Amino acid sequence: MEPVKRIGVLTSGGDAPGMNAAVRAVVRSATGMGIEVVGIRRGWHGLVFGDFFPMTARDVSHILNAGGTTLYTARCPEFMTEEGQQKAVATCRLLGLDGVVAIGGDGTFRGALDLSRRGVPVVGIPATIDNDIGCSNYTIGFDTACNTAVGCIDRLRDTMQSHERCSVVEVMGRHAGFLALYVGIAVGATAVLIPERGYDFERDLAEPIRRSRLRGSTHFMVVVAEGVGSALDIGNEVRDKLGLDARVTVLGHIQRGGSPTARDREMASRMGYTAVKALSEGRGDLIVGTKDGFLTEIPIEEALQMKKNLQMDRYEVLQAMQR
Ligand code: F6P
Repeated sequence: MEPVKRIGVLTSGGDAPGMNAAVRAVVRSATGMGIEVVGIRRGWHGLVFGDFFPMTARDVSHILNAGGTTLYTARCPEFMTEEGQQKAVATCRLLGLDGVVAIGGDGTFRGALDLSRRGVPVVGIPATIDNDIGCSNYTIGFDTACNTAVGCIDRLRDTMQSHERCSVVEVMGRHAGFLALYVGIAVGATAVLIPERGYDFERDLAEPIRRSRLRGSTHFMVVVAEGVGSALDIGNEVRDKLGLDARVTVLGHIQRGGSPTARDREMASRMGYTAVKALSEGRGDLIVGTKDGFLTEIPIEEALQMKKNLQMDRYEVLQAMQR
C-alpha cells in the first residue's frame, strides 16, 4: 500500500457542537502521522466548487471548545448530480487527496458513499444533535444539545410554576424522539410526545396531566419532539380541551449552538483520531461509530442500511416517574 500523504476534512449538513473538536482531532492526528490536511469549506460544496485551504496543527488551536464549525457547513444540491460528483472527484484528484474525512449526519454519509463509489476513500464521523444515525449508538453534539435544552426548560419551569401554567416545549430531532425523550426524563416532564409512539391526545397528554394534577401539581411541562407535529397546535389543544393556561416555546436552533460538553469533546477527539488511523492504514469507505462504549468501523453501505430504535425502556422510566 502506498503511504497516505494528504487527506481532506469537511463538515456537512446541520452543524453540531463538537464538530470543531472532531476537525481538530483529524488535523492533529494526521499531522502527527506526517499526513498533510486540506480543509474543505462548506461540506460537499467545497469539493464541487474548489473551496479549500491547507490546514496545519496551528489552525485548529483553541477550537476544541467552540460551537458551530469553523469549516462552515452546507447542504449541497449540486453534489447530488452526476456532474457535481465528477467535479468533486476532479477536485480530490487535483489536490492529490488519498482520502476524505466527512463529519455530519445521514445526508453527509450518502454523499460519502457516492464519492467512495467513484474511487475516493471516505471515512465518516457521525455528528448531529438528533442522535439518529443507525450505525452508531452516539452522535457528536447530542449531549450538548440535551444539556442546552434542559437548561432552557429548567428556566421555563420557574416561570410556569409561578403562574401555574402549562409549558409546551418543542425540541428538535427531525423524525426521531431521542432528544425529546432524554430531555424529558432529565427535566421530569409531565408528558413527552415522540414520533416513535405516535400521538394520542387522551393517552399521551390528557391522562399524564390529570395524574400530575392528582399528585398536587399546579404547573405542567410537556416536551414535544418536532417529529410529532407543531407545539403551537398542541398548545392550542391543551388550552381548548383541558382549559389550561398554556404557553408554547419552540427551542429551535438554540439547541444547535454552544460550547460542546466534555462528552462531546472527548467523543469527537476519539472519533477524529480513529478516522485518520483507518485512512492511514488503508481502510476507507467506512463510518466510525460507537457500540457499547467502544468505537466501531462499519462499511458505509452497510451503515446506511442500519436502523436504530429508540429504547422504549426509557419511556417506561419516564412513565414510572409520572405515577
Ligand atoms: O439534523 C439536525 C437538525 O437540527 C434537526 O433536528 C432539524 O430538524 C434540522 O436539523 C433543522 O435544519 P435547518 O438548520 O436546515 O433548519
